[in-house]
Amino acid sequence: MHQIIYISTARPGITVTDVEAILATSRANNRRDGITGLLISDGVRFLQALEGETGKVEATFQRIKADPRHRATVLLSGKSVAERQFGMWEMAFGGFGKVRDDAALMALVDSLVAEVRDSNTRALFSGFTRISRKTAA
Ligand SMILES: Cc1cc2nc3c(=O)[nH]c(=O)nc-3n(C[C@H](O)[C@H](O)[C@H](O)COP(=O)(O)O)c2cc1C
Repeated sequence: MHQIIYISTARPGITVTDVEAILATSRANNRRDGITGLLISDGVRFLQALEGETGKVEATFQRIKADPRHRATVLLSGKSVAERQFGMWEMAFGGFGKVRDDAALMALVDSLVAEVRDSNTRALFSGFTRISRKTAA
């Protein structure tokens, strides 16, 4: 089982509708490809984990990197894991502009990663929601 984690910067002006479209496509494709993971966004950045069969994860990441709805994709980790850390494919996002709700995003992400076995991975996702509150205002 292969797992990657990357971070990227959302295209300025990205809307909730854009994110909903990403979510709909991702749910369908990832179910087809046997990919699980977690995508979170505060409206400024994305943080995503993808895991599954190596070829499927790499093909998905190639499509994601070419997507104009974000830029500056940086791979934080790529490794093999003995078993899935994320049983589901989910997205959590904290809203955009005036509707941002940082406390709700933190609570949601904390609950979504509660079952993730690797504590560094849990800390990365929980930490993302807290860092972005300070720097993305
Ligand atoms: C931040 C971000 C995360 C994405 N995550 C996924 C994903 O997990 N799976 C996926 O298939 N596409 C994902 N996409 C969409 C892909 O970039 C691409 O648009 C899509 O895979 C194309 O699918 P299609 O060929 O079925 O239209 C993501 C895009 C962005 C901007």
